Amino acid sequence: MPDKLYQECRAVISGCRAIFEDLRESGVEVVPLPVSRKPTELSSVSESRASTSQSAEPAIGESLADIQQELADCQGCTLCGERQRIVFGVGNPQARLVLVGEAPGFQEDKKGEPFVGEAGQLLDRILFAMKLRREDVYICNVIKCRPPGNRNPEKEEIMACEAYLKRQLRAISPEMILCLGRFATQTLLQSTTAISRLRGAWHTYEGIPLMPTFHPAYLLRHPAGKQQVWEDVKQVMHRLQGETG
Ligand code: URA
Ligand code: URA
Repeated sequence: MPDKLYQECRAVISGCRAIFEDLRESGVEVVPLPVSRKPTELSSVSESRASTSQSAEPAIGESLADIQQELADCQGCTLCGERQRIVFGVGNPQARLVLVGEAPGFQEDKKGEPFVGEAGQLLDRILFAMKLRREDVYICNVIKCRPPGNRNPEKEEIMACEAYLKRQLRAISPEMILCLGRFATQTLLQSTTAISRLRGAWHTYEGIPLMPTFHPAYLLRHPAGKQQVWEDVKQVMHRLQGETG
């Protein structure tokens, strides 16, 4: 077998193994098949959005591209001196579900895309378990530039960046928000309550149902939390599928 093909096969197999290990740790007993979905089923999450005429338009008339353009050379806080790239967000501009993380790390700063490092790979597996792909949802962070050494964002940095997140959410006008970790949750809910107390229950951000859960980077350090995250994302899945409860 050619070397390249062999390496590709190995990568696929280790990816599958990671998915099944996560699912087992999360207490998932039934594997969410079919793994390869029909295009109609995959796109239903985004398409049903596009078909409702009023929700396709950004609430205040500005597009994600407008906001991104305004951010282009942002000097709004001291992180601008440290960053390689602004990490604006990625995914479907008409997504029904938006995922909000904390801030870019090393890999994200290098690539200009959120959640592409180790925590991002875990997030991809969470999305897989939710029967979603990255391109079905929209993913962004509270902070658009990397805090040096991956330290926690400072209050002033959050305050400088928060308006861009809010405008992104207004432009997308999603049906649901999944907040990943303390910073996204506390920022959008304007709360100082611990993430362990906020997670697992529906809250509301500007009329949009918001589910807080643990951050994937936290799960890398505390895998036992995967069971709770699975409970939380199941609630999001049910709501996306139009079920109550
Ligand atoms: N952690 C985050 O909160 N966001 C990213 O984009 C990457 C890691
Ligand atoms: N601390 C955080 O900042 N986020 C989590 O998800 C858990 C602990």
